[in-house]
Amino acid sequence: MDSSKRSHWSSRWAFILVTVGSAVGLGNIWKFPFMTGTNGGSAFVLVYLACVVGIGVPLLMAEAMLGRRGQGDPVDAMRSLAREAGASRLWLAIGYIGIVGALLILSFYSVVAGWILEYTVRAVGGFQGMDKAMLGEVFAGLLADPLRLVAWHTVFMALSAGVVLGGVTAGIERANKIMMPGLFAILLGLLGYGAVAADLSAAFRFLFHFEPKAIDAQVVLAAMGHAFFTLSLGMGAIMTYGSYLGREISIARTSLVVATADTLVALLAGLAIFSFVFAQGLEPAVGPGLILQTLPLAFSTMPFGDVVGLLFFVLVVFAAWTSSISLIEPATAYLVEHFSLGRRAAVLLVSLLVWLLGVAVALSFNDWSGFKVFGLGLFDLLDTLTSKIMMPLAGLLIALFTARVMQRAHVESEIGLGGRAFGLWYGVLRYVSPVAIVLIFLNVIGVIG
Ligand code: TRP
Repeated sequence: MDSSKRSHWSSRWAFILVTVGSAVGLGNIWKFPFMTGTNGGSAFVLVYLACVVGIGVPLLMAEAMLGRRGQGDPVDAMRSLAREAGASRLWLAIGYIGIVGALLILSFYSVVAGWILEYTVRAVGGFQGMDKAMLGEVFAGLLADPLRLVAWHTVFMALSAGVVLGGVTAGIERANKIMMPGLFAILLGLLGYGAVAADLSAAFRFLFHFEPKAIDAQVVLAAMGHAFFTLSLGMGAIMTYGSYLGREISIARTSLVVATADTLVALLAGLAIFSFVFAQGLEPAVGPGLILQTLPLAFSTMPFGDVVGLLFFVLVVFAAWTSSISLIEPATAYLVEHFSLGRRAAVLLVSLLVWLLGVAVALSFNDWSGFKVFGLGLFDLLDTLTSKIMMPLAGLLIALFTARVMQRAHVESEIGLGGRAFGLWYGVLRYVSPVAIVLIFLNVIGVIG
């Protein structure tokens, strides 16, 4: 498609903002802390950081580059890139995996965002007088209540669809301009409180104490999957956002800013959350309920806890919201550009599909909890399928396509990196990232077998 016909971000900062908005989400504030808790703390953090640097950042640049050069939704972009490179149409798989994967992610993402909405409303009344046991019951009670889960999931899907309906600049860009700065401010405030009133040094030890022995194949796969998840990689989101990026902008530099911001938010959120976990003598390995079972306890005891608690949950809603819109956009762009559907019809169709699957996810916590595949309920199944299989697979294909299929000169002209830096990035994509992804897979299969 002719690039002059597509919408474009209004500036380089707008692209950074929306991409940080996509990257920073429940992954940073909900998933990173609970996965760190269940995967042994610093071992997980160390591998996660290594994966962000060695696999994530190079792929973030590659995916944004594919989008800008391809100028289309993930499928159309891959079609024109494959044609340009004289390569097989099989590479379109990158686009399809992305579009489908993003919808699968959103179906459980929206249910979790629904939990956060429930806690936001609860935070209005404050958490005064609640103890550990009561908070455990509140969370268990929420999971056991299909109607509540579905109702909140519906609200969140409506919020997300509403923004995407507004279009690229008026909808997505404007929402991010308002929400992202607020998010950073609230997070810093929370960390400051954690430092004076809770156990920041215990949190620091838990996250950064060097313990290479605790690293095993499962931790490595979980950490790699999380690096993909938190950077929004491999699911067509970055590719689609990249396709709205003006030609004059350096993809390399903007990608670095985005990855740095995303990692900082995760580490800061982790530090703040574990400060409260340890100060209260709580268990780090409780799983997906971690922030919901621990933080309200902190809010119930700290000065101005009601205000801080409410601000915190609003922050998480913002973070989830700016991410979910990036999960709707690839499929929307595909339907609009491929089937000439109107934007409104496309958004509604996509949202309806995701909503239906999300209802099944909500029910998997209660009425349908008996339904298991490979021993996993629907929620864990979708998370595992996307983070541990689809995203790494898409990442592998993106690395191979960029550094082995496309003409080197085309890649070089698009990426905006000078000689040496380009050589390094290209070499990493050619050798390091693919080998690392394949090795991690093989290792896990070997361990399971
Ligand atoms: N990165 C987001 C988070 O951490 C989630 C997300 C948004 C995402 N868009 C994505 C994950 C695309 C994978 C692919 O919460």
